Amino acid sequence: MPLLDTLGIDLPILQAPMAGVASPAMAAAVSNAGALGAVGLGATDAPGARKTIAAIRDLTKRSFHVNVFCHRPAKPDAAVELAWLARLRPHFEPFGAPPPAQLREIYRSFLADEAMLAVLLADKPPVVSFHFGVPPPEAIRALREAGLVLMASATSVAEGRAAQQAGVHAVVAQGYEAGGHRGVFDPDAQDACLGTMALTRLLVRELDIPVVAAGGIMDGAGIAAALRLGAAAAQLGTAFIACPESNADAGYRAALASDAANHTVVTRAISGRPARCLSNRFTALGLEIPSQQVPSYPIAYEAAKALNSAAKAANETGYGAHWAGQGAPLARSLPAAELVATLAKELEQAAAGGR
Ligand SMILES: Cc1cc2nc3c(=O)[nH]c(=O)nc-3n(C[C@H](O)[C@H](O)[C@H](O)COP(=O)(O)O)c2cc1C
Repeated sequence: MPLLDTLGIDLPILQAPMAGVASPAMAAAVSNAGALGAVGLGATDAPGARKTIAAIRDLTKRSFHVNVFCHRPAKPDAAVELAWLARLRPHFEPFGAPPPAQLREIYRSFLADEAMLAVLLADKPPVVSFHFGVPPPEAIRALREAGLVLMASATSVAEGRAAQQAGVHAVVAQGYEAGGHRGVFDPDAQDACLGTMALTRLLVRELDIPVVAAGGIMDGAGIAAALRLGAAAAQLGTAFIACPESNADAGYRAALASDAANHTVVTRAISGRPARCLSNRFTALGLEIPSQQVPSYPIAYEAAKALNSAAKAANETGYGAHWAGQGAPLARSLPAAELVATLAKELEQAAAGGR
């Protein structure tokens, strides 16, 4: 069945699930406009997921998408964590706040969260996607049998093949241009950093299931290009950050509208996994730090969140996890439904040969 029918949508446009940024109001507005709205559940627990799913259902009768993180559970290492906190201490000092005494694994991986699987099986969000890996076969089987449509991010052909083999219905080809965390299954393996164009083409050729292109796609021309590459749809994250429905705070919105948007940086210093961020004080401090000195994901993230809170309390917004893709300067601050209608119109124009 063509992907749009499988997903229950009219337009080949997916709003990316963005933990911390996408809200139920955004997801519902996008779905009501004929695209696929989404939220990220990677930073919440099972009760939080249940509330989020119910909040979306209160606002739309249409299909929507939720996303979970399938990273290998964190590897605590007291020596690395203490050295990291000592390194961050001078950054806390100007704000009169000490770094946390120790760091914890603040989010549980879906791979170790039976309660989250139970919520998905009971509440049945229509579409579920996996980032950072895929769950074990029993979980995939149970979710498929419950009638859920499944997708997984892939940043390489090997990950795309593994996702297809695991039994998902579609693969999201996440190029290096993309904002937010790279979906790499193993953050310590060599990363070929494939761009969206090459990765989409490779996965379209290699896989038997539909491919959704993601990374640097900001407008109808970009969506049309992805479709021309053989993608069945495009997934856009950064394009939606400035929407009024987004949870991005004022500092994040200001940074997105500033020159920092022209200088995105992939860093693991914020969360412990590589992620693309608007250049700011945090990406600067992450430069040239060998990856083995950064605590494992999401242990490092606790320190980042503490530093950002201390800085924000002193009106310094430069330590935020301001995730954004390379297309950031093209972001528009339209209401989500209006943005979807604009993208659809631009796509039609681009398909007819315009720009
Ligand atoms: C602010 C932000 C948060 C993100 N959070 C998630 C997430 O929770 N789960 C996920 O699978 N992808 C997440 N991503 C990555 C997106 O799914 C997608 O790959 C990316 O947004 C595509 O690139 P673009 O931002 O250039 O459109 C996030 C991206 C951004 C910008």
